[in-house]
Amino acid sequence: MKNVDIVLVGSASRTLGSKLQNYDMKVINVEHKTFPDGESYVCIPANIRGQNILLLQSTYPPQDKHLIELFLTINAAKSQGAKHIIVVSPYLAYTRQDSMFKPGECISLRTIIHLIENSGASAFITYNIHKSDTIKWFNIPALNLSAVKVLMEYFLKIDLKDPIILSPDKGAINLAKEAAMLLHSEYSYLEKSRDRNTGKVRTLYKNIQVTNRDVIIIDDIISSGSTIANVAKIATNQGARTTIATCIHPLLSNNAVKRLKEAGISEIIGTDCIENDYSKVSVASTLAEALRIFP
Ligand code: R5P
Repeated sequence: MKNVDIVLVGSASRTLGSKLQNYDMKVINVEHKTFPDGESYVCIPANIRGQNILLLQSTYPPQDKHLIELFLTINAAKSQGAKHIIVVSPYLAYTRQDSMFKPGECISLRTIIHLIENSGASAFITYNIHKSDTIKWFNIPALNLSAVKVLMEYFLKIDLKDPIILSPDKGAINLAKEAAMLLHSEYSYLEKSRDRNTGKVRTLYKNIQVTNRDVIIIDDIISSGSTIANVAKIATNQGARTTIATCIHPLLSNNAVKRLKEAGISEIIGTDCIENDYSKVSVASTLAEALRIFP
């Protein structure tokens, strides 16, 4: 890989990291442990002086731990004389707190970006950041890749009946549009609101042409599953043949899987931006492709 001599893989991205070996990259796992009091320890088990480093570490839950490991590793790489450090955090935590929604709140995303840059990163890559404009908040070169293409490659391989893509809210319309274009299908969207205090999600009822069709509901993130569950219920009530949930970042917190199944979702397809049982699609090929030209 032209711009990368060594890939250092943090504890949260071991599966994706190992796949990068198929793209002619030298991959080394960062050693890590947790001290009895809960503090994190990392160690780079190689001489990286003068090397161009790609540091891969997603920051899904426990996000604070994964972030601290990331900051410590960037700093260790910098102190050990790495020439260039491209940080790849396929899922970047705290991207949804991109405003002061109530007086007194922290714009957490700004703090996270500040910490990544000040730890010593030279460039940054992520996937489908919650609001695409926020990638411009970085002062270092930063790239927001899309995993929709690899997700749709998965769906193109399965037999779907007259599929329709649904976005559960206005924020995910662009994902639905991109997916529909790749799948040569129709798309539509619903509208939702969330109570900022209770977190309860309300979705406006809408008539959608889903009778006897396979419905794919797409979002950037599935956390509690409430957003997609509401849409699945509406689609099922209107006669959908199957409803499938897909997303880039399958956080699937608390009872999300149960909630989705109870709402009629037959399958949950996510990517390895987050590593769990639902990361069925890998973004490795798109990362390797992006690195040929970045930064
Ligand atoms: C928010 O706007 C995001 O795009 C997702 O819709 C949201 O994070 C999903 O959360 P949940 O699964 O908890 O409804």
